[in-house]
Amino acid sequence: MQQRILITGASQGIGRALAIFYAERGGYVLLAARNEKALSELSSELQAKGHSCDYTVCDVASMDAMQAAVNFMVNKAGGIDIAILNAGVGGHHRFDVSNSESVKTIFAVNIFGLIHGFDAIVPVMMKQGYGKIAGVSSLADARGFPGSGPYCASKAAATHLLEAARLELKAYGIDVITIRPGFVRTNMTAKNTFHMPLLMDPPRSADIIARGIDKGKKRIYFPMPMAVVSGIAKALPDAIYEFIAGFQNGNFINRLKNKP
Ligand SMILES: NC(=O)c1ccc[n+]([C@@H]2O[C@H](COP(=O)([O-])OP(=O)(O)OC[C@H]3O[C@@H](n4cnc5c(N)ncnc54)[C@H](OP(=O)(O)O)[C@@H]3O)[C@@H](O)[C@H]2O)c1
Repeated sequence: MQQRILITGASQGIGRALAIFYAERGGYVLLAARNEKALSELSSELQAKGHSCDYTVCDVASMDAMQAAVNFMVNKAGGIDIAILNAGVGGHHRFDVSNSESVKTIFAVNIFGLIHGFDAIVPVMMKQGYGKIAGVSSLADARGFPGSGPYCASKAAATHLLEAARLELKAYGIDVITIRPGFVRTNMTAKNTFHMPLLMDPPRSADIIARGIDKGKKRIYFPMPMAVVSGIAKALPDAIYEFIAGFQNGNFINRLKNKP
């Protein structure tokens, strides 16, 4: 039977690469995001190659829009086998500058987008008695990294939400998968001015994610060396982490200078 896959944030980056992967593998893919032009171009490109897909314009920050995307998928394909809740926004933030509006957007998309996805998809999968929901968090969920506090906080929240959902929904035959990528070369990371170790191209990340889902993994994190670094950062005693992170951010020098 043809696999039916819903992907949010499919207009570019990791989501786009996942859409291409699943469509080329013979699945029916529903592409969801806000950028209609990008979605329609990708959808036409895939359909021209004989692949099976549709797109729907959807702002995941809106429950109504998320519900409409899920309804579209159910009407068109009869159900959902895999939902990849990938839509996300990044952004650099400093606490010495007012930034509550952009922080609201980060949480509206990275957290409420995820929750809206669950609210709309879980009833469909409960009825089916099976299904997989994969949520894209990040290896940045490990600590509050200077300059990315709200993003890290949103991803830490996402990782916890996904873990709780995995435990609760298992009884209904629904598998919840936590995806924690390291650095992937997309528009999100194009803005970064710092060195990004082991930066990966989106098709490679899509391959790792899709194969992990196929294997029934509960947690998919990559690349492994960055996952180890993230694990170490999380396990470090607070004082040591703060010393290292403060040093990398230049704060250590400032602190030394300001020392009475
Ligand atoms: N790139 C990395 O290094 C990296 C690392 C770890 C985790 N991640 C996570 O991976 C996911 C994909 O990121 P990416 O790197 O592929 O970023 P990207 O290239 O900026 O793509 C983000 C996607 O999310 C969609 N999106 C943003 N706001 C949305 C909204 N309100 N409603 C619906 N869709 C929305 C965008 O589509 P529209 O603008 O068309 O809506 C776009 O398709 C994110 O959750 C990100 O946090 C990325």
